[in-house]
Amino acid sequence: MIKKGVILAGGTGSRLAPMTKVTNKHLLPVYNKPMIYYPIETLKKSGITELLVITGTESAGDFMKLLGSGDELGVHITFRVQEGTAGIADALKLAENFIGDENFVVILGDNIYENNFEEEIQSFTKGAHIFLKEVFYAERFGVATLNNKNEVMKIVEKPKNPETNFAVTGLYIYDSSVFAKLKKLNVSERGEYEITDVNQMYINENTMTASFIQNGWNDAGTHESLFYASKLARDMALGKKKTNKQ
Ligand code: DAU
Repeated sequence: MIKKGVILAGGTGSRLAPMTKVTNKHLLPVYNKPMIYYPIETLKKSGITELLVITGTESAGDFMKLLGSGDELGVHITFRVQEGTAGIADALKLAENFIGDENFVVILGDNIYENNFEEEIQSFTKGAHIFLKEVFYAERFGVATLNNKNEVMKIVEKPKNPETNFAVTGLYIYDSSVFAKLKKLNVSERGEYEITDVNQMYINENTMTASFIQNGWNDAGTHESLFYASKLARDMALGKKKTNKQ
């Protein structure tokens, strides 16, 4: 049974400037709550209440002020600080001591999901599992190519000409072999340690599985997607018919 989750909330949030000039992206409002509440709630609804929140140095104090021990949200929160912004996979390295040798879940702090994932998470045994969503514009995501058995053959990070419209969303289930994989990573052309490269290692080992998200999902990392994330959050709060254009 998986009990632990890691929320990655570092980075610069430069695509949301000037709103991120004086605060962190994950503290910005999405409809009626700060952005970081959504990944916390997704994990909680999926049965995961032991959380590690990884922030950058800049707004670390604000995260603690907002979330405290996690009591108010019904979770238990530990904090770690990522020095610099060398990428999602760089931030994930900081989770090794917290996770030990258990299976666990990672969620990006700007990803907003309508579903919970209790079934997939609690039935996971080994390797890695990703969640795909068919989108209109795949260029700004990791993009997965599947074979005719719906197995993931490859993932390309932000391809100029995507082979498919299947975006890799920001929720990942891993076994603890991820930490050995993280140590083998090289910096990508854009100067970051990429989660896509880690996922590709699992694909190469034939231990990657994937499922499709049917309900709403949004990555709130750009002005346009933050707008749609707020609409999705409003629909979730008010129980109205959903929209999920991006
Ligand atoms: O949202 C899904 C997409 O997220 C995936 O399709 C991509 O494969 C994945 O690379 C990622 O792409 P983004 O360009 O959206 O990643 P971004 O730089 O916005 O980082 C996502 C979250 O990761 C962000 O909310 C905070 C955290 N992060 C990011 C960086 C660069 C860190 O904690 N530390 C970092 O150094």
